[in-house]
Amino acid sequence: MPLSETAPNANLVHAAVPPAQMKDAALDRAVLEKIDKAYDSPPWWYDLRGFGILTFSYRSTLMRQVRFFGRNIQGRHLESAIGSGTLFGMILRWRRWKGLPKAQIVGFDYADAMLAGARKRFTGEVRKGEVQLLRADAGKLDFPDASFDSANIANAVHCFPDVDAALRELFRVLKPGGQAAMNVLLYPRGIAPLRAIAARINAWGMRKGILETPYAQADIEARVRAAGFEIVSNEVSGNALMLVARKPAR
Ligand SMILES: C[S@@+](CC[C@H](N)C(=O)[O-])C[C@H]1O[C@@H](n2cnc3c(N)ncnc32)[C@H](O)[C@@H]1O
Repeated sequence: MPLSETAPNANLVHAAVPPAQMKDAALDRAVLEKIDKAYDSPPWWYDLRGFGILTFSYRSTLMRQVRFFGRNIQGRHLESAIGSGTLFGMILRWRRWKGLPKAQIVGFDYADAMLAGARKRFTGEVRKGEVQLLRADAGKLDFPDASFDSANIANAVHCFPDVDAALRELFRVLKPGGQAAMNVLLYPRGIAPLRAIAARINAWGMRKGILETPYAQADIEARVRAAGFEIVSNEVSGNALMLVARKPAR
C-alpha cells in the first residue's frame, strides 16, 4: 500500500502540480523508518557534515562535483537522491554562469528531512514549474519507461540499500542514448593516514545508516553493466569513481 495512504504525516509529493505519472512510489514502512532514523538531521547540519565527508572520505571537492554533474544535464533531467539540494543548487548556478540551456528537472529523494531542505531551496523554481520534487525510492520508481534524457546520482549510489534495483530502474526510465552520471565511493585508497581517516568516517556512516557500503571499482562497474548500461567514462578521483554510463541507443 502506498505510504501516502497510511502514514500520519505523509505530505510526500512536493511538486507544484505533479502530473499523473509522478505520484509517489510505494515506500514501505520498514524502509521509511530506517530512513527517517538515518536522515534525522536538519538540512544545515547535513550540509556541514557532508562537507567534512566530501573532503576526508571521498577526498573530492565541491567544484569538481559541480562540473562533473553540471555537464550531464539536458532536456528532461532526473536528479536522483537530490538530498537537501545544496549541491544541485550550486550545479544550477554553475550552468547559468556557463550559459548552458535550462532543463526540466525532476528531483527525488526518500528522506523527508532532506527533501525539506530542497523544497525550501527551490521554492521559486518549483513555483515556475522548472523543478519538481517528490519523495521516492530509487529502487521502485513510478515513472514510465524512457521518460528522461539524462540523470545524475550525486553522492548516493553507495547509500542505496538495493543498488542493483536502483540501477535497473535508472536504466528503465532513461531514454535510449540517455546518460547517467554518478560518483561512487570506493574503499579507501592512498597513503596510510588518509586511508585510516576515510575508513573511520565510512564505518561511522554505516553505523549511522547513511552509508550502505563503499565499492570496489570492478564490482560497481559490473553492476552498472549488468543493469544494461555501457560505460562512457570511469575516472577515479580520490576515493571516488566518477562514472558516466549510457543506455544504448536503439
Ligand atoms: C549523501 S546524500 C547525497 C544527496 C545529494 N545528492 C548531494 O550530493 O548532496 C545521499 C542521499 O541519498 C538518499 N537516498 C538513499 N537511499 C535512497 C533511496 N533508496 N531512494 C532515494 N533516495 C535515497 C538519502 O536520503 C540522501 O539524501
